[in-house]
This record gives sequence, C-alpha cells and structure tokens, in this order.
Amino acid sequence: MSKIAVIGTGYVGLTTGACFAHLGHHVVCADIDADKVERLRRGEIPILEAGLEELVRAATDADRLSFVVGAASAVGTCEFAVLCLPTPQGPDGSADLSYIEEVAREIAPLLTSEAIVVNKSTVPVGSTRLVERILGRDDVMVVSNPEFLREGSAVHDFLHPDRIVIGSDDHKAAIRVASLFEGIQAPLIVSDPASAEMIKYASNSFLAAKVSFVNAIANVCEAVGADVRDVILGMGYDKRIGFEFLKPGPGWGGSCFPKDMLALIRIAEDAGYDFGVLEAVVQANRDQYDRVAAKVARAAGGSLAGSTIAVWGLTFKARTDDTRHSPALEVIARLLSGGARVQAFDPAVRHDLEGIDVRKDAYAACEGATVLAVLTERDEFRWLDFDKVAAVMARPAIVDARNLLDPTALRRRGFSYEGVGRA
Ligand code: UDX
Repeated sequence: MSKIAVIGTGYVGLTTGACFAHLGHHVVCADIDADKVERLRRGEIPILEAGLEELVRAATDADRLSFVVGAASAVGTCEFAVLCLPTPQGPDGSADLSYIEEVAREIAPLLTSEAIVVNKSTVPVGSTRLVERILGRDDVMVVSNPEFLREGSAVHDFLHPDRIVIGSDDHKAAIRVASLFEGIQAPLIVSDPASAEMIKYASNSFLAAKVSFVNAIANVCEAVGADVRDVILGMGYDKRIGFEFLKPGPGWGGSCFPKDMLALIRIAEDAGYDFGVLEAVVQANRDQYDRVAAKVARAAGGSLAGSTIAVWGLTFKARTDDTRHSPALEVIARLLSGGARVQAFDPAVRHDLEGIDVRKDAYAACEGATVLAVLTERDEFRWLDFDKVAAVMARPAIVDARNLLDPTALRRRGFSYEGVGRA
C-alpha cells in the first residue's frame, strides 16, 4: 500500500484516484475548485463514468480516498504525486502546459525526499524533463505514465489496460511506479520518458487515422455503389486490421483526439518534420463534417435556408455526456451557417447550447422538421417509434451519419434514408 496524491479530479484524475484506492493504496485527490471538492466529499460524481461512483463510495467508506482543495494540501506525506492536469490546446495548436508548470512549482518545496512525480496528463515529448527542471529536486524523480482511458469506459480501461507504459531513466523509480499497478494483469512497457510520451500521441493518432480512413472508404463506397458495412467485415477479420475504430460516421471529436493530433503535428514541426500524413487525417476529418452537412442539405431539397432540421445526438460519442469538440456540434454549426433552424435531443445533454433549440425528447426534436440527422450512435435511438416520428415531421427524411438505423424498415415506412457508405 502506497500513499498517493492525485492532482486534478477530471475523468482521468478521479478515475485514477478511485482505481488506485480500489487497488489498496491510500489516495488523496486534490482540485483547485473548492465547490467541486465539496461535491466529491458528498459523494457527488460530476462525470458520467460507468462504475466510478461505486468505486469512489467504497474507497471513501474504507478511508482510502479523500478530497482536498489545492495540490499543496495533498502532497505533504505522499510517496507519489500523480499529475492528472489538463493540457488544453494552445492558440497555435501546441499543448498548453501552464497548469502542469504551476502545480510543479507549487509542490516542489513540499514533496518528501524520494517522492516520485508521475506525469499522467497527455504531454508533449520532453515535458517530463521540463517538470524535472521546474521541481529542481535531485531527490525527487519524475516519471511518465500516460493514460489510455476512453471517456465512458475509463474505469474499465484503467483496471483492464491493454498495456501499462512507464517512461523513466531511473530503473528503481520505474519499478516503484509499476508496483502501484499490482493486481492488474497487463504487459508493462518501460522506456525512456520521451518514448513513453510519444507512445500516447502515436496511439491516438493511429486510432484517429483509422477512423478517417474508414470514413474515406465509406465515401468511395457511396461513389461506386459498394456497402461499407460489408467492406469493414471483409477488412476486420484480418487480424492485422481488426474491427475496432472502423465505424464510419460524421468524423472523430472529443477532448483528446482533436487536441492530440494538432499537438503532435506541432511537436513534429518544432522538431523539423512535416507530419503530412497526420495533417491529411485532420483535414479528412474536417471534410467529413462538411460532407455530412451537405447530405442534410440535399435531403432538405438542396438548400438549408429556412429549413428546420432535427438532430438526435449532441455528444462526441455514445456513453458520455461530453460535447467538447463534438462532431455533432461541428455538423450543426454548418447547418446553422447554411440558414437552418436546429432542434436537437440528446438524453445526456440537458443544458442549452448556443443557437440550438434543445428539446426534452426525441419526438419533440422532430416536430415540423424537414430532415432528421442522427449524429451520435446512442442505442436508444434505434428503438423509437418511427411511425410517430414520421407523423410529427414535415417530411420523412433521415440522414443517419452513424449507420445506426435500419434503412429497409425506414423506407418501408415511407422515409427517405441516407447513411454513410451504403445505399
Ligand atoms: C481517446 C482514446 O481512445 C483514448 O485511448 C485516449 O486516452 C483518449 O482519447 P476518447 O476521446 O474517449 O478516447 O474517445 P474514443 O472512444 O477514442 O472516440 C474518439 C472519437 O472517434 C469519437 O468522436 C468517436 O465517435 C469516434 N469514432 C471512434 C468513430 O467515429 N468511429 C470509430 O470506430 C471509433
């Protein structure tokens, strides 16, 4: 059992703290937001993560998890200080490390000798060295331990990782950090810090490239009359390709992919390499937003001006309530700029969104609409009463940007239907 301070209680920090406590460690989670700390102390979990509330409750009841305001209040007696801080995208595309630098300065004089600072945030190559310089402590090591947590399955991904990556030049420090994951069966990769930092960017970029690639294949399928679902089936059985991240859609989004792609392009550029392949992946993704908006315009009779469009799904993917850099909002922005009115429903989004008429249920969103666009692959959308949907819409037209629905069943009900990559 180790004493761990986790700095930052977002979906990475809160999940990391709760899971380390679940593994038997003594964890103090710190955040600068006093209101958030109060809510966490009351057992209120501000993010939608399967299994997280139960883990927090059990660990808190067992006195292995507590919450404090400010990093300085958490690190006093810890053996490990795990940084789970935001690294937002700076105006020039580079990752903004100011939160990490600020916390490193704050905790430098407070860390006990032989403590280890663990960098879990997605950070540019070389950041581990930067934190070392800011700490300025010969008796404190800094180790990179990137996270591979997907929103909506963060607890599962933490406790059942495909691999654990540790970047450190000090073998003893690497072994000490590896020991925190005792009880988790997974391959352990120990490398230098730069390689560990690069593994995260390279992994996310490859996944985004897979999605952009399958979206491009879907677009070709439309042009040649092939069905992308059969193509994916034929591709995925090849073990070298697999089926994951091969679902065509409106494009990729979220709080990680867009930020990490631009950061990696910038890291490469600063190092003198033009990462053209990745620039093409990012551009293909922007083009996919345009392409889905154009599908909706065609379904509306050729022009969006003055039309009412219904949208199901606002989050960047199913099983989350996160709308940050959501492809749905990117497509909606294009619909609005084309002069459309947008009525939207997403069960996970109850708050208003600029320029969007957010409705309380899926049918209300369809009232008087010329086209219904499905932009997030929520399972509950599949089982709705489409006779009722047709009755409330001005015209029964559907653009299914996630290939979620059944074209045959809908066409039988008189809908016009267009998916992605299939007739
Ligand atoms: C991602 C990485 O998967 C995770 O390892 C990393 O730690 C954080 O970033 P996340 O941002 O939660 O996780 O989203 P993810 O599930 O990867 O999906 C990213 C985007 O790709 C979403 O917009 C999703 O809808 C889209 N996507 C994903 C597709 O369009 N098709 C697919 O087949 C898979």
